[in-house]
Amino acid sequence: MSRRVALVQFAPVLGDRAATEARLAPLLARAARAELVVLPELCATGYAFADRAEAEAGAEPVGDSRFLDFLAGRCAEHGFDVVTGFAERAGDRLYNSAVLVGPEGPVATYRKLHLFDREKELFTPGDLGVPVVERRGLKLAMLVCFDWAFPEVWRLAALGGADLVCHPANFVLAGYAQRAIPVHAQVNGYYVLNANRVGAERGLRFTGGSLAAGPRGEVLARAPAAGEAVEIVAIDPAQARDKRVTARNDLLADRRPECYRPLVES
Ligand code: ACM
Repeated sequence: MSRRVALVQFAPVLGDRAATEARLAPLLARAARAELVVLPELCATGYAFADRAEAEAGAEPVGDSRFLDFLAGRCAEHGFDVVTGFAERAGDRLYNSAVLVGPEGPVATYRKLHLFDREKELFTPGDLGVPVVERRGLKLAMLVCFDWAFPEVWRLAALGGADLVCHPANFVLAGYAQRAIPVHAQVNGYYVLNANRVGAERGLRFTGGSLAAGPRGEVLARAPAAGEAVEIVAIDPAQARDKRVTARNDLLADRRPECYRPLVES
């Protein structure tokens, strides 16, 4: 059965949650026909924090967040779920997280495993693995931005049974990661919804080009390199669950894990 999912590309307002929510609300309304909407990385706060104190000031606990409350309200209003990038505070640690939110509030959290550049000074690397969550009959995994460069985590999502990987991002290297995403979708035989951001912060320019990819590596939708965009696509979980390549080949069953030991030893 075909399902409608969406991605939103826009520019959060650095350090101004209320202004970001005001930008986001009409974009979310445009995605109201979808069951699931993916937003960019660090959506509530923006990205280019001056220092750890500024990151801390914007970060919120998953269980006590005005931004996630705002999203839960939009979920109730429009009848969808949202995956958002989120600066998460947990005790004295900060994580660059992705959170699945429904009308009832936060449902699941992923903490970015591969931190990019200055993020290493601000955030703790993730410690929750790559959870796969069942929601409305769809199996969802979440990854964040620079995770694009590590095929291991994309494979973990496939092994967990994901039909769809939700991928909030703030890509800064033009076109680079966007080329890898359809390949991750193809070699794992699932859908990917990548929501990237646009605009600039403190000299850092974000490269847009958000995209939805299908289980044969096909690009189902691609947003422009600049400007806001809402892309809604139809996906079919049955296609993601069929890993056959030929009558004799299967993307997962043909793996040779006994030959892959160096992957986990080095
Ligand atoms: C990135 O991981 N935000 C490039």
